[in-house]
Amino acid sequence: MIHGLNQQWAVEEIEVDPPKAAEVLVKWSVAGMCHSDEHLVTGDLVPPEEVWPLMGIDDFFPIIGGHEGAGEVVEVGPGVTTLKVGDHVAASFIPACGRCRYCSSGRQNLCNSGAGTFLPGMITDGTSRHRRSSNGKDLSLFAKLGTFSEYSCVAETQVILVDNDLPLESVALVSCGVATGWGSAVKRAEVQAGDTVVVVGVGGIGINAVQGAAMAGAKRVIAVDPVEFKREKAMEMGATHTFASMTDALAALGELTWGEMADKVILSPSVLYGDMMAEGTQLAGKGGTIVITAIAPMTQTESSVNLFEIAMWNKEIKGTIFGSLNPRADIPMLLGLYREGQLKLDELITNRYALDDINLGYDAMRNGENLRGVIVHS
Ligand SMILES: NC(=O)c1ccc[n+]([C@@H]2O[C@H](COP(=O)([O-])OP(=O)(O)OC[C@H]3O[C@@H](n4cnc5c(N)ncnc54)[C@H](O)[C@@H]3O)[C@@H](O)[C@H]2O)c1
Ligand SMILES: [Zn+2]
Ligand SMILES: [Zn+2]
Repeated sequence: MIHGLNQQWAVEEIEVDPPKAAEVLVKWSVAGMCHSDEHLVTGDLVPPEEVWPLMGIDDFFPIIGGHEGAGEVVEVGPGVTTLKVGDHVAASFIPACGRCRYCSSGRQNLCNSGAGTFLPGMITDGTSRHRRSSNGKDLSLFAKLGTFSEYSCVAETQVILVDNDLPLESVALVSCGVATGWGSAVKRAEVQAGDTVVVVGVGGIGINAVQGAAMAGAKRVIAVDPVEFKREKAMEMGATHTFASMTDALAALGELTWGEMADKVILSPSVLYGDMMAEGTQLAGKGGTIVITAIAPMTQTESSVNLFEIAMWNKEIKGTIFGSLNPRADIPMLLGLYREGQLKLDELITNRYALDDINLGYDAMRNGENLRGVIVHS
């Protein structure tokens, strides 16, 4: 768990209550170390303290991290009909209730029950199932999942049933990074055969945008990352060209495309700051699409986009959460592609860590050493 901004992750004993109605207790086997959890540490993803009372939050911290993960259902609460003990599941950082306006129109990534991600308590009834053993204080769970914990009690709507024979490491990766990156390219950017695609930031998310763009038939997949190791990995996963910065990519893209520039640009760096949008949008040519996948600091409201160019070049800028995929349909779909040998998952993990070494894993992420690091629970 994390106790406050810019602190190390702390490993502590917690108590977890049994599941109540429409909840399940999950024993997590693998938790992916996504950059979104790092945003809790830096504060990019922490609402400003002055709005906590408006959100009904007394104290944002401590919070249990982890939203990418896979595990096994070990107990089901009353009324749970879709899962049983022993089922293998993927975490879904957006719940899919199946009934709200968004779920029922094929936009599960916008499910209304995902709105309370920052609020403490369960989706089901708002009360807490997790507390610190040392002082009995209720604990929040990031995205109401908390996959960094060995066990957590979650809503039935927040886990996706997967085939029991699939490796749980692969399932964990698909639950956030792979789906978000692949979907950013294939679903949100709608990469077409013959497109020129630029992916900015080749981490756990961006590498899968590279993979998705190549799978969708892009003519050129141009990966941009300052870290050489990431650029090498991008070439192994479907990139055709790599550059160390957007500035370098802009110059080369002009020559490569005879000034046409890219059809699709996916922005997936560690953090998106407003001043990165000038180059980010210039990478796209006429009629181009720019997809914002990376998370900007919550309070960032200024950006350097040339608005004249957006209108006159008929460009569009789109946001995406979860690559605009439907977790309940698309997590199993992506695992099907993996099973058939079409999607690379085993190649994504650079290092595995015991929970006690979580801070080593995040240090490695900050140093650009991991394409994806995962925690393997004992
Ligand atoms: N939209 C969503 O639903 C969603 C889901 C998951 C993660 N995210 C966000 O996506 C982003 C990427 O996550 P990740 O886990 O892949 O992170 P990561 O740390 O694994 O990778 C980020 C990569 O970006 C590179 N980078 C940093 N600055 C750059 C720049 N100026 N130009 C080019 N590359 C740059 C880094 O070297 C690194 O390789 C984060 O902001 C994360 O919070 C969004
Ligand atoms: Zn994530
Ligand atoms: Zn819904």
